[in-house]
Amino acid sequence: MLTVSAKRYQVPVKLKHHRYVIDIVSDETQSLCDFLETYCPDKKPLLLTNSVVGPLLMPKLLKSFKKQGFKPEYLILPDGERHKNLATVQHGYDWLTEQGANRHSVMLLFGGGVLGDIGGFIAATYMRGIKYVQIPTTLVSQVDSSVGGKVGVDHQEGKNLVGAFYQPLHVHIDVSYLNTLPEREYLCGLAEVIKYAVIKDTKFYEFLQKERIGILQRDPVLLEKIVKKCCTIKAGVVTRDEKETRGERMILNFGHTVGHAIEKLTDYRKYGHGEGVAMGMVQAAELSVAEGHCTREIALDITDILAAYGLPVKLPNFSKRQWEQSLKHDKKMRGSHLQFVFVESIGQVSVASITPQKVAQFLRR
Ligand code: NAD
Ligand code: GLY
Repeated sequence: MLTVSAKRYQVPVKLKHHRYVIDIVSDETQSLCDFLETYCPDKKPLLLTNSVVGPLLMPKLLKSFKKQGFKPEYLILPDGERHKNLATVQHGYDWLTEQGANRHSVMLLFGGGVLGDIGGFIAATYMRGIKYVQIPTTLVSQVDSSVGGKVGVDHQEGKNLVGAFYQPLHVHIDVSYLNTLPEREYLCGLAEVIKYAVIKDTKFYEFLQKERIGILQRDPVLLEKIVKKCCTIKAGVVTRDEKETRGERMILNFGHTVGHAIEKLTDYRKYGHGEGVAMGMVQAAELSVAEGHCTREIALDITDILAAYGLPVKLPNFSKRQWEQSLKHDKKMRGSHLQFVFVESIGQVSVASITPQKVAQFLRR
């Protein structure tokens, strides 16, 4: 399980055909350099970052690399979800060919979930797959997207419609990168953190209630604990159901069905992903009460913790038809039914089928 060595925590991800380790550190690059000594003997990793993270965080990383004799080449991609598309991927392929990249090359993906998803997809498809290391810099990417190998880009018809399951060689999480993260992005990450507690861990939920002030102040000790806990939960789920074929990985989508519908109906402009998920979790909990899965107290408790963390809990107003149209395009549709994640109790959820019409009706109640 979780091991502690000096200032480094390690969470192993043990899959059937691939194993890797998530290192969780605070303000430390040595462990990354040590790892690269083995896997990147030419000392020329190929670093992908974006126009926000590059200027902000790359100088320090490059300085550490230089001290250890590494000479990375780097490419700065444009920032933002609107660039998470095949045009950006093409740009990445062009750069890799210019660099003479081959199957022995190692890509380093330095940024948030958008950069990690794009870079992972480039790595998955260039020469049918090259090695990559995730170095996530947002809370969302540290607790969720850098772990588990879902990589891909958006299509005009929906988010993440083009992609692959392609696991990283290694994940290096440095919580000190979160110091520069804008408040709203940080809160979006906390929505995913609360999700893990609701789906899997009562004690962690109580910890999030108790330590709220310190967590909102980004206390580094609390941050390391949170990131470790979420990565451990995610690693466990991914180990048991790597490609979402056995159902368990679906529980990670708690709150996401309604959340994605909100994001889509507001053109991905008004709400961040975590904000959509927060409102989606409230609705999923209330629908769980209506469908007899949990008590009203539990749904109220979930609403309270999200509101206390400054996340939106009130649903925007859309017609039944708008909700239905949006829900119908969800990736979790199986035939005429959605696979929906219901709350049973804090720390336990279940997946059951429900029609998008019924969910839309409920959202208009
Ligand atoms: P993001 O990558 O867009 O990052 C948010 C903003 O913060 C960006 O402007 C980014 O450049 C900036 N930023 C990043 N690190 C920073 C730092 N340390 N300091 C200051 N600014 C920083 O958004 P995100 O929330 O990290 O990721 C969302 C994306 O992740 C979505 O595309 C979503 O689909 C994807 N995602 C994927 C998975 C998965 O399993 N693959 C899981 C969850 C989310
Ligand atoms: N973020 C959902 C998953 O990785 O399955």
